Amino acid sequence: MPDSSTARDIAKRVVRYYRRTRRDLPWRNNVHAYSVWISEIMLQQTRVAAVIPYYERWLRSFPTIEALAEAELDDVLAHWSGLGYYNRARNIHSCAKEVRTTYNGRLPSSAKELRALPGIGRYTAGAVSSIAYNQHEALVDGNVARVVSRVFAIEDELKSTAGIKEQWRICGALVPRSSPGDFNQGLMEIGALLCKPKNPECSVCPLMTHCRAYREERTNELPSVAKRKAAADKPLLALNAAYLERGGKLLLGHRKAEGLFGGLWELPTAPQREELSALTGLKLDFYGETASIEHAQVLSHRRLHIQVWPAQVSGRTHLRHGSPYQRLAWLTPSEVPSVGISTATKSILERTTEIRNER
Ligand code: ADE
Repeated sequence: MPDSSTARDIAKRVVRYYRRTRRDLPWRNNVHAYSVWISEIMLQQTRVAAVIPYYERWLRSFPTIEALAEAELDDVLAHWSGLGYYNRARNIHSCAKEVRTTYNGRLPSSAKELRALPGIGRYTAGAVSSIAYNQHEALVDGNVARVVSRVFAIEDELKSTAGIKEQWRICGALVPRSSPGDFNQGLMEIGALLCKPKNPECSVCPLMTHCRAYREERTNELPSVAKRKAAADKPLLALNAAYLERGGKLLLGHRKAEGLFGGLWELPTAPQREELSALTGLKLDFYGETASIEHAQVLSHRRLHIQVWPAQVSGRTHLRHGSPYQRLAWLTPSEVPSVGISTATKSILERTTEIRNER
Protein backbone atom coordinates (compact mmCIF):
# COMPACT_ATOMS: atom_id res chain seq x y z
CA MET A 1 0.00 0.00 0.00
CA PRO A 2 1.46 3.42 -0.88
CA ASP A 3 2.22 5.93 1.89
CA SER A 4 0.60 9.32 1.41
CA SER A 5 3.62 11.11 -0.09
CA THR A 6 4.16 8.27 -2.59
CA ALA A 7 0.46 8.36 -3.47
CA ARG A 8 0.62 12.13 -4.00
CA ASP A 9 3.68 11.86 -6.24
CA ILE A 10 2.11 9.07 -8.31
CA ALA A 11 -1.11 11.06 -8.72
CA LYS A 12 0.79 14.17 -9.77
CA ARG A 13 2.78 12.24 -12.37
CA VAL A 14 -0.27 10.49 -13.80
CA VAL A 15 -2.30 13.72 -14.09
CA ARG A 16 0.62 15.53 -15.71
CA TYR A 17 1.14 12.69 -18.16
CA TYR A 18 -2.56 12.72 -19.08
CA ARG A 19 -2.66 16.45 -19.69
CA ARG A 20 0.49 16.34 -21.80
CA THR A 21 -0.27 13.34 -23.99
CA ARG A 22 -3.99 12.56 -23.90
CA ARG A 23 -5.43 11.30 -27.15
CA ASP A 24 -7.98 13.52 -28.80
CA LEU A 25 -11.09 11.33 -28.62
CA PRO A 26 -14.59 12.53 -29.51
CA TRP A 27 -16.01 11.94 -26.00
CA ARG A 28 -13.24 14.04 -24.47
CA ASN A 29 -14.40 17.27 -26.11
CA ASN A 30 -17.23 18.94 -24.31
CA VAL A 31 -17.34 16.42 -21.46
CA HIS A 32 -20.85 15.50 -20.45
CA ALA A 33 -22.18 12.67 -18.26
CA TYR A 34 -24.24 11.26 -21.13
CA SER A 35 -21.30 11.08 -23.55
CA VAL A 36 -18.96 9.68 -20.88
CA TRP A 37 -21.50 7.00 -20.01
CA ILE A 38 -22.11 5.90 -23.62
CA SER A 39 -18.42 5.89 -24.54
CA GLU A 40 -17.44 3.97 -21.42
CA ILE A 41 -20.04 1.26 -22.07
CA MET A 42 -18.98 1.00 -25.72
CA LEU A 43 -15.31 0.80 -24.71
CA GLN A 44 -15.89 -2.26 -22.55
CA GLN A 45 -14.61 -5.20 -24.60
CA THR A 46 -14.16 -3.02 -27.71
CA ARG A 47 -11.10 -1.09 -28.92
CA VAL A 48 -11.02 2.70 -29.14
CA ALA A 49 -10.61 2.78 -32.94
CA ALA A 50 -13.62 0.49 -33.44
CA VAL A 51 -15.78 2.50 -31.03
CA ILE A 52 -15.32 5.96 -32.59
CA PRO A 53 -17.65 5.56 -35.63
CA TYR A 54 -20.29 3.86 -33.47
CA TYR A 55 -20.09 6.59 -30.88
CA GLU A 56 -20.42 9.38 -33.43
CA ARG A 57 -23.39 7.78 -35.16
CA TRP A 58 -25.02 7.16 -31.78
CA LEU A 59 -24.81 10.78 -30.67
CA ARG A 60 -26.16 12.00 -34.01
CA SER A 61 -29.20 9.71 -33.69
CA PHE A 62 -29.70 9.99 -29.92
CA PRO A 63 -28.28 13.38 -28.95
CA THR A 64 -29.80 13.35 -25.44
CA ILE A 65 -30.93 10.85 -22.80
CA GLU A 66 -34.50 11.96 -23.55
CA ALA A 67 -34.10 11.11 -27.23
CA LEU A 68 -32.60 7.73 -26.30
CA ALA A 69 -35.39 6.95 -23.83
CA GLU A 70 -37.96 7.67 -26.52
CA ALA A 71 -36.27 5.57 -29.24
CA GLU A 72 -37.47 2.07 -30.11
CA LEU A 73 -35.29 -0.76 -28.75
CA ASP A 74 -35.00 -2.04 -32.32
CA ASP A 75 -33.45 1.23 -33.44
CA VAL A 76 -31.10 1.23 -30.43
CA LEU A 77 -29.97 -2.33 -31.25
CA ALA A 78 -29.45 -1.38 -34.90
CA HIS A 79 -27.01 1.29 -33.74
CA TRP A 80 -25.18 -1.36 -31.68
CA SER A 81 -25.06 -3.90 -34.52
CA GLY A 82 -21.55 -5.33 -34.72
CA LEU A 83 -20.33 -4.15 -31.28
CA GLY A 84 -21.36 -7.42 -29.61
CA TYR A 85 -22.58 -8.11 -26.06
CA TYR A 86 -26.02 -6.77 -26.89
CA ASN A 87 -27.15 -6.72 -23.26
CA ARG A 88 -25.09 -3.57 -23.03
CA ALA A 89 -27.40 -1.85 -25.53
CA ARG A 90 -30.56 -3.20 -23.89
CA ASN A 91 -29.34 -1.99 -20.50
CA ILE A 92 -28.44 1.44 -21.89
CA HIS A 93 -32.00 1.76 -23.19
CA SER A 94 -33.58 0.70 -19.85
CA CYS A 95 -31.20 2.98 -18.01
CA ALA A 96 -32.15 5.98 -20.18
CA LYS A 97 -35.83 5.39 -19.40
CA GLU A 98 -35.13 5.12 -15.68
CA VAL A 99 -33.00 8.28 -15.71
CA ARG A 100 -35.78 10.12 -17.52
CA THR A 101 -38.41 9.18 -14.95
CA THR A 102 -36.33 9.10 -11.75
CA TYR A 103 -33.74 11.79 -12.40
CA ASN A 104 -35.49 14.12 -14.82
CA GLY A 105 -33.22 13.06 -17.70
CA ARG A 106 -29.92 13.79 -15.95
CA LEU A 107 -27.56 11.04 -14.79
CA PRO A 108 -26.94 11.28 -11.04
CA SER A 109 -23.45 12.32 -9.93
CA SER A 110 -22.80 9.93 -7.05
CA ALA A 111 -21.24 6.55 -7.78
CA LYS A 112 -23.74 4.96 -5.38
CA GLU A 113 -26.80 6.19 -7.28
CA LEU A 114 -25.18 5.42 -10.63
CA ARG A 115 -24.51 1.83 -9.60
CA ALA A 116 -28.17 1.25 -8.86
CA LEU A 117 -29.01 1.87 -12.55
CA PRO A 118 -29.26 -0.90 -15.18
CA GLY A 119 -25.94 -1.92 -16.72
CA ILE A 120 -23.85 0.42 -14.57
CA GLY A 121 -21.28 -1.47 -12.52
CA ARG A 122 -18.51 -0.35 -10.26
CA TYR A 123 -16.22 0.65 -13.14
CA THR A 124 -18.76 2.71 -15.10
CA ALA A 125 -20.02 4.40 -11.92
CA GLY A 126 -16.44 5.39 -11.09
CA ALA A 127 -15.81 6.65 -14.62
CA VAL A 128 -18.97 8.75 -14.94
CA SER A 129 -18.76 10.24 -11.44
CA SER A 130 -15.06 11.10 -11.63
CA ILE A 131 -14.77 12.16 -15.29
CA ALA A 132 -18.08 13.98 -15.74
CA TYR A 133 -18.76 15.18 -12.17
CA ASN A 134 -15.28 15.47 -10.66
CA GLN A 135 -16.23 13.14 -7.79
CA HIS A 136 -13.51 11.58 -5.67
CA GLU A 137 -13.97 8.03 -7.01
CA ALA A 138 -11.51 5.40 -8.20
CA LEU A 139 -11.92 2.99 -11.07
CA VAL A 140 -10.23 -0.19 -12.26
CA ASP A 141 -10.48 -1.58 -15.78
CA GLY A 142 -8.17 -4.07 -17.51
CA ASN A 143 -5.55 -1.44 -18.28
CA VAL A 144 -5.54 0.05 -14.80
CA ALA A 145 -5.38 -3.42 -13.22
CA ARG A 146 -2.21 -4.20 -15.19
CA VAL A 147 -0.54 -0.88 -14.29
CA VAL A 148 -1.14 -1.13 -10.53
CA SER A 149 -0.30 -4.84 -10.49
CA ARG A 150 3.11 -3.96 -11.88
CA VAL A 151 3.79 -0.78 -9.93
CA PHE A 152 2.86 -2.44 -6.61
CA ALA A 153 3.96 -5.97 -7.57
CA ILE A 154 0.59 -7.53 -6.73
CA GLU A 155 1.20 -11.28 -6.74
CA ASP A 156 -2.46 -12.36 -6.82
CA GLU A 157 -3.78 -13.47 -10.18
CA LEU A 158 -5.06 -10.47 -12.18
CA LYS A 159 -8.74 -11.53 -12.20
CA SER A 160 -8.86 -13.36 -8.86
CA THR A 161 -11.08 -12.01 -6.08
CA ALA A 162 -8.02 -11.17 -4.00
CA GLY A 163 -6.31 -9.48 -6.97
CA ILE A 164 -9.34 -7.36 -7.84
CA LYS A 165 -9.80 -6.34 -4.22
CA GLU A 166 -6.18 -5.23 -3.97
CA GLN A 167 -6.33 -3.27 -7.26
CA TRP A 168 -9.39 -1.33 -6.08
CA ARG A 169 -7.87 -0.74 -2.65
CA ILE A 170 -4.71 0.70 -4.18
CA CYS A 171 -6.58 2.87 -6.70
CA GLY A 172 -8.79 4.16 -3.88
CA ALA A 173 -5.65 5.23 -2.02
CA LEU A 174 -4.09 6.86 -5.11
CA VAL A 175 -6.97 8.83 -6.63
CA PRO A 176 -6.51 12.53 -5.75
CA ARG A 177 -9.30 14.82 -4.54
CA SER A 178 -8.44 17.33 -7.24
CA SER A 179 -8.69 16.04 -10.84
CA PRO A 180 -9.87 12.48 -10.11
CA GLY A 181 -11.14 12.22 -13.71
CA ASP A 182 -7.80 13.18 -15.25
CA PHE A 183 -6.03 10.81 -12.89
CA ASN A 184 -8.31 7.88 -13.75
CA GLN A 185 -8.03 8.52 -17.47
CA GLY A 186 -4.28 8.97 -17.13
CA LEU A 187 -3.90 5.52 -15.56
CA MET A 188 -5.99 4.06 -18.40
CA GLU A 189 -3.84 5.85 -20.98
CA ILE A 190 -0.65 4.57 -19.38
CA GLY A 191 -2.07 1.02 -19.49
CA ALA A 192 -3.22 1.35 -23.10
CA LEU A 193 -0.19 3.13 -24.54
CA LEU A 194 2.86 2.30 -22.38
CA CYS A 195 2.24 -0.44 -19.84
CA LYS A 196 1.17 -2.95 -22.49
CA PRO A 197 0.88 -6.66 -21.72
CA LYS A 198 3.98 -7.41 -23.81
CA ASN A 199 7.01 -5.14 -24.26
CA PRO A 200 5.94 -2.28 -21.99
CA GLU A 201 7.67 1.03 -22.71
CA CYS A 202 9.12 1.53 -19.23
CA SER A 203 11.80 3.99 -20.29
CA VAL A 204 9.19 6.66 -21.09
CA CYS A 205 6.71 5.75 -18.33
CA PRO A 206 6.02 8.48 -15.75
CA LEU A 207 5.73 5.76 -13.08
CA MET A 208 9.07 4.07 -13.79
CA THR A 209 10.70 5.30 -10.59
CA HIS A 210 7.79 3.97 -8.50
CA CYS A 211 7.39 0.64 -10.28
CA ARG A 212 8.40 -2.47 -8.37
CA ALA A 213 8.03 -4.77 -11.37
CA TYR A 214 10.42 -2.54 -13.32
CA ARG A 215 12.90 -2.30 -10.45
CA GLU A 216 12.88 -6.07 -9.93
CA GLU A 217 12.92 -6.80 -13.70
CA ARG A 218 9.63 -8.69 -13.44
CA THR A 219 7.49 -6.84 -15.99
CA ASN A 220 7.24 -10.02 -18.03
CA GLU A 221 5.91 -12.07 -15.11
CA LEU A 222 3.56 -9.44 -13.60
CA PRO A 223 0.65 -9.26 -13.61
CA SER A 224 0.14 -12.94 -13.00
CA VAL A 225 -2.42 -14.11 -15.55
CA ALA A 226 -4.27 -17.44 -15.56
CA LYS A 227 -4.15 -19.36 -18.83
CA ARG A 228 -7.19 -18.80 -21.02
CA LYS A 229 -9.46 -21.65 -21.82
CA ALA A 230 -8.59 -22.78 -25.36
CA ALA A 231 -11.33 -22.17 -27.93
CA ALA A 232 -11.44 -25.90 -28.61
CA ASP A 233 -12.45 -26.52 -24.98
CA LYS A 234 -15.52 -24.30 -25.20
CA PRO A 235 -18.81 -26.10 -25.75
CA LEU A 236 -19.94 -26.20 -29.36
CA LEU A 237 -23.36 -24.88 -30.32
CA ALA A 238 -24.34 -26.25 -33.74
CA LEU A 239 -27.23 -24.52 -35.50
CA ASN A 240 -28.93 -24.57 -38.88
CA ALA A 241 -30.21 -21.44 -40.59
CA ALA A 242 -32.59 -21.04 -43.53
CA TYR A 243 -31.65 -18.66 -46.34
CA LEU A 244 -35.01 -17.89 -47.91
CA GLU A 245 -35.59 -15.41 -50.73
CA ARG A 246 -38.81 -14.33 -52.33
CA GLY A 247 -39.27 -11.44 -54.77
CA GLY A 248 -35.81 -10.07 -53.98
CA LYS A 249 -36.50 -10.06 -50.24
CA LEU A 250 -34.86 -12.13 -47.53
CA LEU A 251 -36.72 -13.72 -44.61
CA LEU A 252 -35.41 -12.67 -41.19
CA GLY A 253 -36.71 -13.45 -37.71
CA HIS A 254 -36.84 -10.82 -34.96
CA ARG A 255 -35.89 -12.59 -31.71
CA LYS A 256 -37.89 -12.07 -28.55
CA ALA A 257 -36.20 -9.75 -26.07
CA GLU A 258 -34.79 -12.36 -23.70
CA GLY A 259 -31.92 -14.83 -24.16
CA LEU A 260 -28.87 -15.05 -26.43
CA PHE A 261 -29.14 -12.50 -29.26
CA GLY A 262 -32.46 -11.25 -27.76
CA GLY A 263 -34.06 -8.42 -29.76
CA LEU A 264 -31.78 -8.97 -32.76
CA TRP A 265 -32.74 -10.08 -36.27
CA GLU A 266 -31.30 -13.22 -37.85
CA LEU A 267 -31.85 -15.85 -40.50
CA PRO A 268 -34.49 -18.27 -39.12
CA THR A 269 -32.32 -20.62 -37.05
CA ALA A 270 -32.93 -23.92 -35.26
CA PRO A 271 -30.84 -26.76 -33.84
CA GLN A 272 -31.99 -29.11 -36.65
CA ARG A 273 -32.55 -28.32 -40.32
CA GLU A 274 -35.81 -30.29 -40.20
CA GLU A 275 -37.25 -27.79 -37.70
CA LEU A 276 -36.92 -24.81 -40.05
CA SER A 277 -40.19 -25.46 -41.82
CA ALA A 278 -42.23 -25.53 -38.58
CA LEU A 279 -40.27 -22.52 -37.35
CA THR A 280 -41.30 -20.39 -40.34
CA GLY A 281 -44.61 -22.01 -41.28
CA LEU A 282 -43.31 -22.39 -44.85
CA LYS A 283 -42.88 -25.40 -47.07
CA LEU A 284 -39.16 -25.58 -47.80
CA ASP A 285 -37.34 -27.42 -50.56
CA PHE A 286 -33.64 -27.30 -49.76
CA TYR A 287 -31.36 -27.10 -52.78
CA GLY A 288 -28.93 -29.55 -51.22
CA GLU A 289 -25.56 -29.79 -49.61
CA THR A 290 -23.52 -27.98 -52.26
CA ALA A 291 -25.31 -24.71 -51.64
CA SER A 292 -24.78 -24.74 -47.89
CA ILE A 293 -22.07 -22.74 -46.23
CA GLU A 294 -20.59 -23.02 -42.81
CA HIS A 295 -19.78 -20.27 -40.45
CA ALA A 296 -17.88 -20.59 -37.21
CA GLN A 297 -17.79 -17.80 -34.70
CA VAL A 298 -16.15 -17.78 -31.32
CA LEU A 299 -18.30 -16.25 -28.59
CA SER A 300 -16.80 -15.51 -25.19
CA HIS A 301 -18.17 -18.71 -23.67
CA ARG A 302 -18.91 -21.05 -26.56
CA ARG A 303 -18.20 -21.80 -30.19
CA LEU A 304 -21.00 -21.19 -32.58
CA HIS A 305 -21.24 -23.19 -35.76
CA ILE A 306 -23.99 -22.23 -38.16
CA GLN A 307 -24.77 -24.07 -41.35
CA VAL A 308 -26.80 -22.07 -43.83
CA TRP A 309 -29.34 -23.74 -46.11
CA PRO A 310 -30.93 -22.02 -49.11
CA ALA A 311 -34.37 -23.34 -50.03
CA GLN A 312 -37.25 -22.79 -52.45
CA VAL A 313 -40.21 -21.45 -50.52
CA SER A 314 -43.94 -21.92 -50.75
CA GLY A 315 -46.81 -21.00 -48.45
CA ARG A 316 -47.15 -18.15 -45.99
CA THR A 317 -45.07 -17.43 -42.93
CA HIS A 318 -46.56 -18.41 -39.62
CA LEU A 319 -45.18 -18.08 -36.10
CA ARG A 320 -45.64 -21.29 -34.16
CA HIS A 321 -46.48 -21.28 -30.48
CA GLY A 322 -43.31 -20.95 -28.38
CA SER A 323 -41.28 -19.54 -31.26
CA PRO A 324 -38.04 -17.75 -30.30
CA TYR A 325 -39.18 -14.97 -32.66
CA GLN A 326 -41.64 -12.18 -32.04
CA ARG A 327 -41.95 -11.60 -35.78
CA LEU A 328 -40.86 -12.91 -39.19
CA ALA A 329 -40.43 -10.39 -41.99
CA TRP A 330 -39.33 -10.29 -45.61
CA LEU A 331 -36.74 -7.51 -45.83
CA THR A 332 -35.24 -5.88 -48.90
CA PRO A 333 -31.42 -5.64 -49.14
CA SER A 334 -31.66 -1.95 -48.25
CA GLU A 335 -33.74 -2.63 -45.13
CA VAL A 336 -31.37 -5.23 -43.65
CA PRO A 337 -28.68 -2.75 -42.50
CA SER A 338 -31.27 -0.67 -40.63
CA VAL A 339 -32.30 -3.43 -38.20
CA GLY A 340 -30.20 -4.86 -35.35
CA ILE A 341 -28.20 -7.88 -36.47
CA SER A 342 -25.39 -9.65 -34.65
CA THR A 343 -21.83 -9.89 -35.94
CA ALA A 344 -22.48 -13.60 -36.61
CA THR A 345 -25.49 -12.80 -38.80
CA LYS A 346 -23.59 -9.98 -40.51
CA SER A 347 -20.77 -12.28 -41.51
CA ILE A 348 -23.16 -15.04 -42.60
CA LEU A 349 -24.92 -12.58 -44.92
CA GLU A 350 -21.63 -11.30 -46.31
CA ARG A 351 -20.32 -14.83 -46.85
CA THR A 352 -23.55 -15.96 -48.50
CA THR A 353 -23.49 -13.00 -50.89
CA GLU A 354 -19.88 -13.82 -51.76
CA ILE A 355 -20.72 -17.44 -52.54
CA ARG A 356 -23.69 -16.43 -54.67
CA ASN A 357 -21.56 -13.98 -56.62
CA GLU A 358 -18.95 -16.67 -57.22
CA ARG A 359 -21.50 -18.89 -58.93
N1 ADE B 1 -10.68 3.06 -22.01
C1 ADE B 1 -11.95 3.08 -21.57
N2 ADE B 1 -12.30 4.29 -21.15
C2 ADE B 1 -11.21 5.08 -21.31
C3 ADE B 1 -10.95 6.43 -21.05
N3 ADE B 1 -11.89 7.21 -20.54
N4 ADE B 1 -9.72 6.88 -21.30
C4 ADE B 1 -8.78 6.06 -21.82
N5 ADE B 1 -8.98 4.80 -22.10
C5 ADE B 1 -10.18 4.29 -21.85
